[in-house]
Amino acid sequence: MSQSAASPSAVPRSAAATSRRIDVELGERSYAVHIGPGVRVLLADEVAATDARRAVVVTARGLEAVPDPGVPHHMVEVADGEEHKNLASVEGLCRSFADAGLTRDDIVVSCGGGTTTDMVGLAASLYHRGTPVIHLPTSLLAQVDASIGGKTGVNLPTGKNLVGAYWQPRAVLCDTDYLDTLPARERLNGYGEIARCHFIGAGDLRRLPLHEQIAASVARKAEVVAADERDTGLRHILNYGHTLGHALERATDFALRHGEAVAVGTVFAGRLAGALGRIDRERVAEHLEVVAHYGLPTRLPEAVDVGELVELMRRDKKATSGLAFVLDGAAGAELVRDVDEATVMDCLRAMPRDGR
Ligand code: GLY
Repeated sequence: MSQSAASPSAVPRSAAATSRRIDVELGERSYAVHIGPGVRVLLADEVAATDARRAVVVTARGLEAVPDPGVPHHMVEVADGEEHKNLASVEGLCRSFADAGLTRDDIVVSCGGGTTTDMVGLAASLYHRGTPVIHLPTSLLAQVDASIGGKTGVNLPTGKNLVGAYWQPRAVLCDTDYLDTLPARERLNGYGEIARCHFIGAGDLRRLPLHEQIAASVARKAEVVAADERDTGLRHILNYGHTLGHALERATDFALRHGEAVAVGTVFAGRLAGALGRIDRERVAEHLEVVAHYGLPTRLPEAVDVGELVELMRRDKKATSGLAFVLDGAAGAELVRDVDEATVMDCLRAMPRDGR
């Protein structure tokens, strides 16, 4: 973590003219998500809409990635990555907020991928028992999912996201220009979350340009979060494809990225819903078609063990007893608990595998 008082770069304000705005409706904690090329220029306006007199800007994309927030500010450079997403980093961030003289009326700005927005969001939620935060997500995954909806968190050695808090941002600026330099595999990671939106009420996004796919994914997430902020029911559907997805991430020691694992999990969720008689063959096939359309993996990795996957899925946070999956059906996607283990095993064994 390095700190600097350097001045960030300016981006032409006109760039925001083509943007879309989606509101996350949470009463007095409602906020706007702006999506489009150049929307980072709205940062100063969003800061001005708060009472902030100073800011700490935490960036994983370098100092140049963040425009002037319009108030005196301090820059902190961090690195994206699960290995940095821990309580020690949160303490380091809180110390830098204190060193900068930040109060609970001031503002924290995060700029980076989902690991950065998660970690900075948690630090903001804790500092002075809650300091406002604005996110500038720079990866596709963070723009369509991680930075929206107020879930913040860090990892423990025993697992991902085990320590966290709900802390809604004041605004999210999804500047699609950040995606121009995204490595292909990182882009694919985000497409995993876009693909699963097809089955949770966002409709068919395949023919839309990328910024419209992002906007539609954000709009669906905003509706779900507005209806169930604290994840007691409807919000579970955002975890479509995630039960097997999380297990695959663990079983492959994270060689399979989150979005790739969710993609395989989405194909599996379709097959399992079909085996349970919840959806017809065409809808099962649609899962494969949609995931393949985005160039995502559709098969189980060659080496994973079916028994290990079931064991990992039993420990899923949503599985209070037995195996739980978000599954498609006549009423749309919903969390289904206590799914018959033999059926799950059969479906896993029947999944096509890489290299076969
Ligand atoms: N990423 C799932 C959620 O925000 O609930």
